[in-house]
Amino acid sequence: MRGFRQFDAPVCVIVTYDRELASSDDTAFDCGAATTAMVNAAWSRGLGCVINSQGIMQSPVVREHAGIPDNQVIMKAVAMGWPDPDFPANKVYTNRKDLDETARFVGFD
Ligand SMILES: Cc1cc2nc3c(=O)[nH]c(=O)nc-3n(C[C@H](O)[C@H](O)[C@H](O)COP(=O)(O)O)c2cc1C
Repeated sequence: MRGFRQFDAPVCVIVTYDRELASSDDTAFDCGAATTAMVNAAWSRGLGCVINSQGIMQSPVVREHAGIPDNQVIMKAVAMGWPDPDFPANKVYTNRKDLDETARFVGFD
């Protein structure tokens, strides 16, 4: 349920793209790249982010509240704020797969 409150963050960034770009497979890639860059830039300044779909599940409400024009497709939300290190959920760390499970290096033997 905290996700629907944007984790009580003071800021929610809505990532959108121009409807004219809807048929390009670059669009999702570019939105992800821009969002990753923003999240990393925020983190470099101590700001935490949660990329999330919950914040746009009621996208007509988001569109009206944020004044997003109809030519923009709403893609994702990013909650942003100063992390609370004492909040229990922020003590949870997920494991990552090893590099050799996620990438294949060719010609580097
Ligand atoms: C595209 C996308 C959508 C997500 N949607 C949600 C969401 O709706 N609610 C949520 O709690 N987390 C969501 N997450 C997960 C959080 O962003 C998560 O905290 C983040 O991926 C890092 O967590 P990790 O370090 O445990 O992987 C989403 C992540 C991605 C990449």
